[in-house]
Amino acid sequence: MLHNHKPSQNQFDVIIIGAGASGLYCALTAGRRGRRVLVLDHANKAGKKILMSGGGRCNFTNYFVEPEHFIGANEHFCKSALSRYPSWEFIAMVEQHKIAYHEREHGQLFCDESAQDIVTMLLDECAAVGVQVRLNTQIDNIAVNEGDENKRFIVTTTKKLSKKELTADANKQNPTQTIYNSESLVVATGGLSIPTMGASGLGYELAQQFGHQLLTTDPSLVPFTFTDKTGELLRALSGISLPVVASNTRKSFKLPLLFTHRGLSGPAMLQLSNYWQTGETIEINLLPDSDVTALLLDFKKSHPKQLIRTVLAENTGNQLPKKLLAALQATLWDEVKDTELANIKDERLIQIGQAINGWQLKPSGTEGYRTAEVTRGGVNTDEVSSKTMESKLQNGLYFIGEVLDVTGWLGGYNFQWAWASGFVCGEVV
Ligand code: FDA
Repeated sequence: MLHNHKPSQNQFDVIIIGAGASGLYCALTAGRRGRRVLVLDHANKAGKKILMSGGGRCNFTNYFVEPEHFIGANEHFCKSALSRYPSWEFIAMVEQHKIAYHEREHGQLFCDESAQDIVTMLLDECAAVGVQVRLNTQIDNIAVNEGDENKRFIVTTTKKLSKKELTADANKQNPTQTIYNSESLVVATGGLSIPTMGASGLGYELAQQFGHQLLTTDPSLVPFTFTDKTGELLRALSGISLPVVASNTRKSFKLPLLFTHRGLSGPAMLQLSNYWQTGETIEINLLPDSDVTALLLDFKKSHPKQLIRTVLAENTGNQLPKKLLAALQATLWDEVKDTELANIKDERLIQIGQAINGWQLKPSGTEGYRTAEVTRGGVNTDEVSSKTMESKLQNGLYFIGEVLDVTGWLGGYNFQWAWASGFVCGEVV
């Protein structure tokens, strides 16, 4: 029974659900304007995804942020917030807090020490302006009372007790329900990836409760998986990495590829996954700096006694690791592996060249939300203001961060979206 205790009343200007990247940034922005802000989260720690990001060093933004680095059904939606909150604003805060950072390739910025520095910075900034953060808080219900604007939102919560607390005091088996009121409600609950880190579908449920349309959600920035023969081949190459051009009909990325025991990963695959639809074939150019067909046909004329593997091993700048070359040979030209070039038909050499410069693979799927960095799709941005992130369907309701249908590329773009959308919202709530 939950009814033994009378719920207490707590009044705030702004309640933010989710103490993650966007929620904390929105909170400190609103707090600086003198707003009374409460952040609620069901997890036992704030910013869990920040802590695990960038291999523990948090790729917190990127020097080069352009709308092209984001996907979503409405490609224009992200523009306003990104231009009002450029990456140097966040960099300035990082510098103010004396957090050492460095640039990696493609303008990506990482902490020198630990992602914890970013979480500490955000929580310190929140504390400095009186933001209250309550963790271990389950959201039971959200209701609207349009009669009183100051108390428009009624948020019913239950404190989640740890096992220790439950056993320490038997009375606590009936946890206290607390009701909070606020003028504005911000949904900053993120996406579905890594459920063990606190991800839940609450943001999507709330969106639907208020009549918002959801666009199909899918795991993204995620490795591809393969079954059957291809799966076996890739598994055997696990651990090999090389620079490739990975493409589908819409997008192309020149980045490293990594073979894993589950399939294909590495930046090239993660980036392409943002643009991949189930059932689609992907193309991998394993030797992007060589025209393999031209090379084989030339060598057929100039060195007719050579074998395909020798030409590829000696004339492609050591780009193909030996093990990969052997696997390609077994898969693509096994029947002519010991045949001199002179005795291989031009058409066959052209086929082999095309296969290496455009290896066609059909992923069976992706590793899913268990390892995906982000969730693609989400709250339809047509029903949200791009200037303030306010719902067009419910006054005082806002959506920020990953719960919206805005997904960034790999490289610090998803955090930049979280900061930028949190900022523009924090300016008005
Ligand atoms: P975020 O996930 O940060 O926060 C949501 C919060 O809501 C969480 O604290 C959660 O507990 C809370 N919540 C959820 N459901 C709730 C419920 N029912 N009740 C109460 N609270 C609830 N991006 C990037 O730019 N650079 C990087 O280096 C990385 N690296 C990276 C690594 C890994 C492993 C992952 C999984 C993700 C990344 N990302 C990233 C992506 C980045 O972490 C992500 O896009 C942002 O954290 C999104 O910010 P949000 O505030 O929208 O959600």
